Parts: sequence; C-alpha cells; structure tokens
Amino acid sequence: MASGATNIYLPEYATITAAKQMTETEMYFSFKLDSGKPLGHMPGQFAEVSLPGIGEAPISISSSPGSNGTFEMVIRKIGNVTNKIHTMKQGEKIGIRGPFGTTFPVETAMKGKDIVFICAGLGIVPLRSAIQYVMENRKNYGKVTILSGTRTPSQRLFIDELKKWAAIKDVTVLETVDIAEDGWTGNVGVITTLFSKVEIDPAKTIALIVGPPVMYKFAILELRKYNMKHQDIYVSLERHMKCGVGKCGHCQINNLYCCQDGPVFSYADIENIREAI
Ligand SMILES: Cc1cc2nc3c(=O)[nH]c(=O)nc-3n(C[C@H](O)[C@H](O)[C@H](O)COP(=O)(O)OP(=O)(O)OC[C@H]3O[C@@H](n4cnc5c(N)ncnc54)[C@H](O)[C@@H]3O)c2cc1C
Ligand code: FES
Repeated sequence: MASGATNIYLPEYATITAAKQMTETEMYFSFKLDSGKPLGHMPGQFAEVSLPGIGEAPISISSSPGSNGTFEMVIRKIGNVTNKIHTMKQGEKIGIRGPFGTTFPVETAMKGKDIVFICAGLGIVPLRSAIQYVMENRKNYGKVTILSGTRTPSQRLFIDELKKWAAIKDVTVLETVDIAEDGWTGNVGVITTLFSKVEIDPAKTIALIVGPPVMYKFAILELRKYNMKHQDIYVSLERHMKCGVGKCGHCQINNLYCCQDGPVFSYADIENIREAI
C-alpha cells in the first residue's frame, strides 16, 4: 500500500479514527487518510476498502464531504473482508482506493428542489452523505422528506440523526419497520406504506432511492402515482464489483458499468434495461 497513492489500483493507507457497533451486524467507522488529504468524495460515491492478504470490498461513503478530513462508513458483516474489519479498532490501518462512481446531483438537479429520500435497510448509509450535504446547505433546497424503513426496530441506523433532522424546519422524517418488536409504537409495514402520509409536488421534487433490490420497483410505482418524471428519480444500484474503475466487467449491467456509469443513475437512464431494476 502507498501513502498518497495516485495509481488507481494502489490503495493508500487510512487509519481508523473511531469504531462503534451500531446493530448486531453493522459497525460504524470513521477514517482519516494517512496522507492528511481529504478523500475528495461527493455524496453517492464509494471506495474500495482493502485488507492485505484478505481482499477488497466496495463500501459507500456515508458522511458528507465537509467532515473535517475524515470520512465515515457503515459496514455489514457478511464475508471475508467485512468480518475482519469488524474486529478492528481505533488506530488500526486499512487500504482505500477511491472515491469512485457517480454522485447524487446535490449541486445540479437537486438545487432549489424539494427532496424525498427513500432509505430502506442499509440504503440510509449512502443517502446519509446526501442528507448531511442538504442539511449543511439547507437554504439551497426546498422541503425535505426522509422515509426510512428497516426490517425490525433493532436494525435502525442513525437514530439520533433521524431525530435531529426531524427537528429542522421543513424537514419531515417518517419511519417504519416490517416487523415490530417490544416497545415499538411507530408505523409497521414496508416502506411504501409511508407514501400515504407524504405530499409530493412533481413539478419541483427530486427523489433519491436506495435499498434492497426488491424495493425499487415498488417505490418507483408510488412516485409515479404522483406523476413524477423519470429523470427526477435517482437510484443507487449495487452489483458485485472488483476493480471499481471500469476495467474488469464484473459490475456490468447491459452496456453500463455500475462502478463508473453508476452506482447513482437517473431512473430515466436505466428504465429500459431489464436487468437494472
Ligand atoms: C457500490 C457499492 C456500495 C456498497 N456499500 C456498502 C456499504 O456501505 N456497507 C456495506 O456493508 N456493504 C456495502 N456494499 C456491499 C459490500 O461491498 C459487500 O457486502 C462486500 O463486498 C462483501 O465483502 P466480503 O469480503 O466481506 O464478503 P465475501 O467474502 O466477498 O462475500 C460474502 C457473501 O456476500 C456476497 N457478496 C459480495 N459482494 C456482494 C455485493 N456487492 N452484493 C451482494 N452480495 C455480495 C458474496 O457472493 C458472498 O455470498 C456495497 C457494494 C457496492 C457494490
Ligand atoms: S468493478 Fe470492474 S468494471 Fe466495474
């Protein structure tokens, strides 16, 4: 690994500045590049996280670019790389390549618009970067609605931040869980059940959707009931990735490379690709 790497295949060192268990399967990490430079990402992008001798995994950047030279990730324990990262502590080092991929249009299409964030499961992880960006530049955007859904209450992520955002003027946060547990008094049902409580003006709204693949079709159907234009709906797609830079073809969806043409796509650009959603 190199410090301040310029070769796209060469990771550079980053040090864990904070590590915290969030749920049974998810851990929060904050990192700082050893070069001292900021990562230089925009909301929606990901980085390849590597551990020498184990492997590499693409992980979304969960914090906004303005986070003091650090960047944050939430990692679900699922296999070789992610299991090992879950054992790591503050001060230990990982490799980072990136940032890679397309971004949510925070500085273009979203500016001046009402924004609806639809975050299901781990979807809140990449969307949090865009939500933080919007909150830090609040005057540049209209009304904000955040719909957040998890399978159970104990899988909820960023609970304190959801509360903090809900207290901001013209921001509405609606949560739901698929299955209630003891003590849960909120909405029960899949994320689309929240749409009956939402007002959307299709002429001035941009929607961002991230979640499990099965959810996209249904969320888009709900947005279409409001006559939202397909180019105003943005999704982030997850595919198996290796290189992250458009060379290996692992992430290909038809003629698109998810790592470079995505992961963020306007629905208008992928609606005719059967394999996309
Ligand atoms: C753009 C992008 C952003 C991502 N962001 C996050 C994030 O913020 N947090 C997070 O926890 N995870 C995220 N992931 C998923 C993460 O990359 C995989 O879980 C990770 O690569 C697993 O690596 P591993 O070595 O731990 O598991 P492995 O040992 O490689 O695999 C374990 C199991 O997971 C499956 N698997 C591996 N990669 C994927 C994948 N991409 N999609 C579905 N199944 C997979 C394997 O087939 C295998 O069954 C993201 C993936 C992409 C493509
Ligand atoms: S991950 Fe290699 S081409 Fe996209």
